Amino acid sequence: MAKSEIEGKAAFDHIRYAQLWEDADILTAALGDCSGQTLVSICAAGDNALAMLLLDPAKVVVVDLSPAQIACLKLRIAAYATLTHAEFLELMGARPSARRKALLARVVAALDPETRAFWTALATDVARFGAGGVGKFERYFRIFRTWFLPLVHSRATLDAIFVPRDRHGRQAFFDTRFNTWRWRALLNVFFSRFVMGRMGRDKAFFDHVEGSPAQHVARRIHHAAVQTDPSENPYLHWIITGTHGAALPMAWRAENYDTIRDRCARIEIRPGSLEAFINTGELAHGFNLSDIFEYMSPPVFAQVYESILGAAAPNARLVYWNMMAPRRVPAHLSARVTRLRDLEDDLKARDKAFFYSDFVVEEVVG
Ligand SMILES: C[S@@+](CC[C@H](N)C(=O)[O-])C[C@H]1O[C@@H](n2cnc3c(N)ncnc32)[C@H](O)[C@@H]1O
Repeated sequence: MAKSEIEGKAAFDHIRYAQLWEDADILTAALGDCSGQTLVSICAAGDNALAMLLLDPAKVVVVDLSPAQIACLKLRIAAYATLTHAEFLELMGARPSARRKALLARVVAALDPETRAFWTALATDVARFGAGGVGKFERYFRIFRTWFLPLVHSRATLDAIFVPRDRHGRQAFFDTRFNTWRWRALLNVFFSRFVMGRMGRDKAFFDHVEGSPAQHVARRIHHAAVQTDPSENPYLHWIITGTHGAALPMAWRAENYDTIRDRCARIEIRPGSLEAFINTGELAHGFNLSDIFEYMSPPVFAQVYESILGAAAPNARLVYWNMMAPRRVPAHLSARVTRLRDLEDDLKARDKAFFYSDFVVEEVVG
């Protein structure tokens, strides 16, 4: 089986991302018309592979190096089949709940024994934080929210972030109440390379990162607080409050629940690397590549990118994010894809998962 560069570096024995911190609205818009086609998605917590079902593809092949991340998708598929939408939101943590253990027990009954055991061992954490709150990344946000945020802002100020305002009102709120010197000091400490490496991400993931994480976060907070509307942002809401408000990620919305449930059989889970899929000789019409390129050194990225082109049907789209390390089609392959710049610009301006610095949509030349 093809090995991936990151496989040897980071420990994948636990859930790193218990929910998806990439905006499925812009992902699905970027993939375009995919009905009846084959799509490939990195799994992570599975929410975006599920959202891709809304494009009505023939199938979505889901890959991930981490069995714990695959277990997140399996839990969701069983939950869609077992729970009502309101129960689903409670189990995941989008809504408060006193009965998550009971909901979890119903869902895991439909799972294979190994995945059932994995989730049963996490029942106490699921009860406290929701199944979407038990990853290392969410724990990092929880520490931020519980121990640091109260030093900087009152509950009233935090709640006021999510009051709908026009752009002018958002800028005024940001300048006068949100972006205080205490807030800026907090970002500098909490998003220092040292703290992030210790608590949020493996140090290996910073090997290729340029610039200071705190500077990057400050720029992106402006996007989330002023350029876009916080009242429509489920990601910011979870980071600040630990649950969702009125706004939900695409796959968790009531209007999408039945469609996703009815199409779950079109998900084909293939534990292992994307590179392994590429070697099967199958062709896909669209790729959700998350931000995996950032975890690769530039030469490995170039190699993997080229092999993806070999597994891409004409006009297939490659969609991916960069958080801090810049990655785009390598120069020597640039004639083989078209950058959909207008689409990228439009979607970047709307990206609710605000911490990424770049969003890329490249279409394979037909
Ligand atoms: C790149 S991480 C990023 C997660 C993300 N930003 C989020 O919001 O959830 C997503 C997933 O990619 C997986 N991954 C990384 N490199 C991979 C590869 N080469 N093949 C398959 N999965 C990979 C990791 O195991 C992880 O679960």
